[in-house]
Amino acid sequence: MTTYQHHGKHFVPDEWTRALAAARDRLPQLHGTNTRYLSAFLAGALDKVDGTYDYRSYLGLALLRLPGTDQAPGTAVQQLARRDRLHAILLTDLIAFELRAAHNVHTPLPLMRPAPAVAAKRLRHAMRAAMPALRRLSLVEHATDSSQVTALRRVVAAVSMVLTDEDRRALQVSMLPVHTVHDEWLFIRVLQAFETTFALLATDLTDVITAVSAGQVPRAASRLAAAASLLRESAALWPLMATIQPDAFHAFRTFTEGASAIQSRHYKIVESLCRAPGTARLDSPAYLSVPEVRTAIMHGQISLDDVLDAAHQSPPDPALGAAVREFAAAISQWRQTHYRLAVRILGPERNGTGYTEGTPYLRDARQESVFHHCPSARPDGGAEI
Ligand code: HEM
Repeated sequence: MTTYQHHGKHFVPDEWTRALAAARDRLPQLHGTNTRYLSAFLAGALDKVDGTYDYRSYLGLALLRLPGTDQAPGTAVQQLARRDRLHAILLTDLIAFELRAAHNVHTPLPLMRPAPAVAAKRLRHAMRAAMPALRRLSLVEHATDSSQVTALRRVVAAVSMVLTDEDRRALQVSMLPVHTVHDEWLFIRVLQAFETTFALLATDLTDVITAVSAGQVPRAASRLAAAASLLRESAALWPLMATIQPDAFHAFRTFTEGASAIQSRHYKIVESLCRAPGTARLDSPAYLSVPEVRTAIMHGQISLDDVLDAAHQSPPDPALGAAVREFAAAISQWRQTHYRLAVRILGPERNGTGYTEGTPYLRDARQESVFHHCPSARPDGGAEI
């Protein structure tokens, strides 16, 4: 890991990748040992040489315990706790990295360190974004003054005390930046934090659909309302992301070619569980970039719109109707804020990653209605960034 963070994945010397590939070839000889995690790690570490590099491997998503991704999905409360824990761990790791970099020149990713004022703002926003989850997990009892380094260190220490060996390993192996620019740590951790929330929202929506189909409207309404409020709460990640230095972003973006968040499965699962996309969007890079999700839709995946129709819930019961509107508004706000940040960093013209035209694609995609049952309001200004 140290070598990867020292060189950047794009620049890791061949002798290292050859040694890792040779180790991978020997995995089948380890009879009786569970090598699933190690295989997943090597797949990520070697993605550039294997030609399999993409958004998932860039973020090491297979190495993080995202909500809803194993055999025992758990109750809604357990799933939220799992999301909160991962969210808090990812953000306190970012805080620890920023604190280390400010005081120790040997901290990894030494290029383009932010000025102290930017670093301080970043720490403030990271703490703000982590706080609701830290409180729910009872890891922080009182308001923390995020301008105080000692207070931030205390929070990092409190989280560190509850980390399992598995958590520490996940944090290490899921940080394989492509280059050695300081801000890539921020970029990766914020994307991973959003992915953690999308993963939970996908399980929430699945449960809401099941509940509506079973006639359990109050359960559906309360779970959907909770999902909407979690998505609103997660908007605190945007001002954090907005502390990225545009020059730094452009410096490492050259080497992330092949990885675009358009490949985010969880985002598209959430979108398509609300409403099946129309043919034009289904046949565009939006869904051609997530073939498994596209296949599920083409095989008749049921959306919330579908079950509301079938349950003659149009207009739906008042609590469910309110939750549908809140969720639609939270998604629209997410899209609008994302678009505004992308324009700030990339400009309004063609500037995509090769998958799309870039911000013009996002400008149009934010107009997609979230539910037929609830025509999208014109996007508001989005969250503060
Ligand atoms: C520096 C910040 C960011 C910039 C400049 C940016 C830019 C872009 C661009 C240009 C696209 C269009 C696809 C492409 O051409 O590759 C895109 C798509 C997307 N981005 Fe971002 N993005 C940023 C941060 C984020 C974050 C933090 C997330 C959270 C996961 C995210 C999630 C997405 C998703 C889900 C899509 C696909 C949207 C769709 O297909 O409708 N982006 N982004």
